[in-house]
Amino acid sequence: MARRNLKDARIIVTGASSGIGRALAIQLCQRGATVLATARRADRLQELEQLCRDMPGSLTTMVGDLTSEQHRQEIVSYATVEWNAVDVLINNAGAGAIGRFDDASAERLRRVMEIDFFAPVELTRLCLPLLAMGRRPAILNIGSVLSHRAVPNKSEYCAAKFAMRGWAESLRVELAAQRIEVLMLSPSTTRSEFFDSLVDTNPNVKSKSVGSMRPERVAQLAIATLVRSKREMILSLGGKGLVWAGRLFPRLTDRILGRFA
Ligand SMILES: NC(=O)c1ccc[n+]([C@@H]2O[C@H](COP(=O)([O-])OP(=O)(O)OC[C@H]3O[C@@H](n4cnc5c(N)ncnc54)[C@H](OP(=O)(O)O)[C@@H]3O)[C@@H](O)[C@H]2O)c1
Repeated sequence: MARRNLKDARIIVTGASSGIGRALAIQLCQRGATVLATARRADRLQELEQLCRDMPGSLTTMVGDLTSEQHRQEIVSYATVEWNAVDVLINNAGAGAIGRFDDASAERLRRVMEIDFFAPVELTRLCLPLLAMGRRPAILNIGSVLSHRAVPNKSEYCAAKFAMRGWAESLRVELAAQRIEVLMLSPSTTRSEFFDSLVDTNPNVKSKSVGSMRPERVAQLAIATLVRSKREMILSLGGKGLVWAGRLFPRLTDRILGRFA
């Protein structure tokens, strides 16, 4: 399949105020794309706008909470009025939670599902008519290694990321006739602000704040996923190892993971 050209592509990137989304917005702009970057932190988005000002592409920002229906409508209204189509939707915004399920509130599960599952799914629903009018349209979902193999102390996050993957797999087949591609990138631990923004997490539970991948590298691989239309990409040797160990030796993997529970 021919490579996707990102120059002048009209691309929505959610969660662009930090980490992977920010790196993605910058790299897309460097490649000449027209980017709408969204998140809640206005100061971060302003700084991103400044940074991208002299790049070959263009970047506009929109501040809001993606779990709000009104904000999702605003994103789609912008794309309708300014672009009349969307070429790529990147569902990147997300948040995690750490701790045992039996210690957690029902509210934590609902919040994680709202951010990591319902928000991207409902934004996608609103974008479908615009994607249908796009040039070589694609939806790129940022999942996780934990979309493929669950681990203890992250039950809500794993549930949301598994749900995203299941939904995307179904959508991929449904949208094939309209030639809208559904792609998925599954990073492993990435050095971003992810572990500083956990949802309702017990302060006594230690969270990992360092990781093996840089957001810039993850963004490069996300762009490669888009350019080459890779339907699923799992990142890092450790990430692939966990997924394959879980498939080939599920009981042994459970036992090993149990040591961290
Ligand atoms: N870091 C990891 O180890 C890792 C591993 C695998 C997968 N991932 C996935 O990668 C994606 C990006 O995460 P990251 O590592 O780059 O973390 P990050 O630095 O914390 O970035 C998360 C982004 O999501 C936005 N966001 C969170 N809640 C939001 C909401 N309610 N409404 C709008 N925007 C919201 C944040 O912006 P505001 O706070 O400004 O709203 C931020 O821009 C997520 O989907 C995450 O699940 C991360």
